[in-house]
Amino acid sequence: MSALEKNAPQKSDLLPESLRDDFPILSGDVLDGHPLVFLDNAASTQRPRQVIDAICRVYERDYSNVHRGIHTLSERSTEQYEQAREKVRALIGAEHVEEIVFTQGTTASINLVAQSWGGANLKPGDEILLTAMEHHSNLVPWQQIASKTGAVLRHVPITETGLLDIATLDQLLGPRTRLVALTSVSNTLGTINPISTIAAQAHAVGALVLVDAAQSVPHQPTNVRTMGADFMAFSGHKMLGPSGIGVLYGKRELLDAMPPFMGGGSMIQEVGLESFTPAALPAKFEAGTPPIVPAIAMSAAIDYLSGIGLDAIHRHQQALVKRAYQGLSQITGLRILGPAPEHRAGLVSFAFEKIHAHEFAQVLNDQFGVAVRAGHHCTQPLHATLGITASTRASFYLYNRLADIDRLLEGVAAVQAKFAPQGRRRKARGG
Ligand code: ALA
Repeated sequence: MSALEKNAPQKSDLLPESLRDDFPILSGDVLDGHPLVFLDNAASTQRPRQVIDAICRVYERDYSNVHRGIHTLSERSTEQYEQAREKVRALIGAEHVEEIVFTQGTTASINLVAQSWGGANLKPGDEILLTAMEHHSNLVPWQQIASKTGAVLRHVPITETGLLDIATLDQLLGPRTRLVALTSVSNTLGTINPISTIAAQAHAVGALVLVDAAQSVPHQPTNVRTMGADFMAFSGHKMLGPSGIGVLYGKRELLDAMPPFMGGGSMIQEVGLESFTPAALPAKFEAGTPPIVPAIAMSAAIDYLSGIGLDAIHRHQQALVKRAYQGLSQITGLRILGPAPEHRAGLVSFAFEKIHAHEFAQVLNDQFGVAVRAGHHCTQPLHATLGITASTRASFYLYNRLADIDRLLEGVAAVQAKFAPQGRRRKARGG
């Protein structure tokens, strides 16, 4: 029995393979001669028929602009758009439905908080505490607002094993800390961060907590109240929904006190030629025509995920990541980034000294049908900390199977054996 077989996950950890039938793209003709092994889910997931059907249904039967008309179609669209908001509230355990603001995505949600809350509250010398493992979406908006307001950025370092070094929090948190903004799951290391512990320490010094939950809400049960999040951001396209839709959760009293971010239609109570009064929550933060169909389709995605159960989805991915980690650990010359499987979500990034990540991903795609991401995954500072410029990332979701992991391992081993001596490079865009 091989080491892999010995460590194989129990069948009961895994979701039934039959759910793959719900995803047309997985059996489609994507790659000549290879079944598709889609392991780029941290970048964006695929959609089940139920979500695709919801999009078609709205456009075919129910579509109109929302909150604007009294005709039947506008009423239907408005009702479904607002039901989607309620579904999101329930998914993340928020107390009030008006604490859910629809945005364009995680990036837009974080920018909203940085510009609106940060613009109104940050003073020179105030501190924003970030971490060394943040996505560019949770770095650049703070850099922008810090340069406008004179606020200072500080960063929690990572340990050698790819965990947040939370022993440093005692020194990093203080009376000047106004906000701690951090990811719940690193999109590069896979590290699951202890948000509620960190939030308790942040709150003890009077700081607020913003959680970038783009890589956790789709994969595990979430409760904003037990986490201690004051703000939380995530995206629809990473959880079986469409692109162009995201969520900002904010505690009602905080959102109420914040000025509008964008101005325009829908976000007003009343407008004169010289001034306006803003609408109540959540409309205050939803200027213009919102992402109507994406929001409704995202609620179909939530139904789909809830039907399977986020606990079961989490267990499934734990089994996959354990298998991937163990298999990759046996391949000579490969450096796995981030912690052991018990501290990580369903993704693994790795680097070879002698093969560029882009080369690696290209061969995995062309010769093995395995789609992975290569590059810096929008975490250039983290890669710099790790002493590399790029890595290859395999990220899993509910429709991946042990067979997909084995195909990845087969491809990685073959590429490593065959291509290690010389490397041909291709460039890909980073985030
Ligand atoms: N944030 C996405 C990723 O990590 C795009 O790949």
